[in-house]
Amino acid sequence: MMLGTRRNAFSRSGASDASVPADVVLSVRQLSVAYVTRRGPVQAVRDVSFDLHGGESLALIGESGSGKTTLGMAINRLLGSSAQITTGEVLYQRQGKVTNILTLNKEQLRRFHWQECAIVFQSALNSLNPVLRVADQFVDTARAHGQHDRGQIEQRASHLLRLVQLDPGRVLHAYPHELSGGMRQRVLLALGLLLEPQVLVLDEPTTALDILTQRVIIETLRQLKQELRFSMIFISHDLSLAAELADRVATMYAGRIIELGSVRDIFYHTRHPYTLGLLQSVPPLRGTLEDLRSIPGSPPDLITLPSGCKFHPRCPLAGPECAQEDPPAFVVGDEHTSACLRWQEVRSPRGEEAAIGEPSRVMHSARTPRAEEAAS
Ligand SMILES: Nc1ncnc2c1ncn2[C@@H]1O[C@H](COP(=O)(O)OP(=O)(O)OP(=O)(O)O)[C@@H](O)[C@H]1O
Ligand code: SF4
Ligand SMILES: [Mg+2]
Repeated sequence: MMLGTRRNAFSRSGASDASVPADVVLSVRQLSVAYVTRRGPVQAVRDVSFDLHGGESLALIGESGSGKTTLGMAINRLLGSSAQITTGEVLYQRQGKVTNILTLNKEQLRRFHWQECAIVFQSALNSLNPVLRVADQFVDTARAHGQHDRGQIEQRASHLLRLVQLDPGRVLHAYPHELSGGMRQRVLLALGLLLEPQVLVLDEPTTALDILTQRVIIETLRQLKQELRFSMIFISHDLSLAAELADRVATMYAGRIIELGSVRDIFYHTRHPYTLGLLQSVPPLRGTLEDLRSIPGSPPDLITLPSGCKFHPRCPLAGPECAQEDPPAFVVGDEHTSACLRWQEVRSPRGEEAAIGEPSRVMHSARTPRAEEAAS
């Protein structure tokens, strides 16, 4: 069910000549973000590159402070004035037309939000307007984007509310405080999808919810994706959520993506000691809790980062070379990269001993070359 006729969000400026593969909706290239503070710049996102494909779910995982929210906000240009995007491009593609989000003017950016890319924030439970009934929140959002037919908007809202397993008859006329946390989270998902964005960014979509409600949200997201086929970036501490919902997983450490691969590769063919540390700190479904280990030490100060590999002070595999060189992203498998000098020594806790060849280096590339391309 569509809401009126979709207008092109970017009619004139903002267009980019950059080439983006046809199946990619979002291409983040060499993106760096720093917060200006009295002590100096906080390097919250460092040289991040990845592509998001049409219909794909990408999970961003990492410890608190690793830069996940900053990255999600930077992609949407929603950072506050203390944040500076120091390098990079965020290329967005719809119907073959490529736009650099970082060059959009205010009006284009306003249209980009909701219509092309919607974000559900980490503090989502407080992000509904407390004095507006749910129906009016849908109507206001649609009107801000040039759609004024209230009947049509409510019809679409009802359809989306049913998709997120809520009763529109009850919910549309309720105020946010009359709904439970799980219901409000589902309203926000429905609202995010109102204008049929190509990309949905979800920041910790289940963190504030109890375990049963978390399950409902996970199931809802899975069904929504099947039905509406949007692309999704979801940010989470929760590896089990990543395993259930993602096609690919990116691990972030100290502002950088240090491993990127399919869910299967990240969980069963782990090639970075930090990702391994994250996996080992999750209670196993089978086996004993003795296998549970937390990563020693704490994340680095993003103002005075360590030399070389930023994980070296905490890494069980670190050698002398690790304090010298910040590793580039090595291609370690088909569409799988790891920024570790010793990636060949990393073994997944879930058991696999695949043969590993010589690495190729991908320096600053948004696209991960396939192994055979990299070898040639
Ligand atoms: N407005 C700000 N001013 C200065 N530093 C900031 C600001 N916002 C975030 N930071 C710092 O930037 C780094 C990345 O923060 P960010 O919120 O992106 O991490 P995160 O991975 O989303 O963490 P969490 O899992 O806790 O949500 C952290 O060191 C944080 O302290
Ligand atoms: S490069 Fe060295 S310190 Fe960094 S993750 Fe790999 S082994 Fe550990
Ligand atoms: Mg965050």
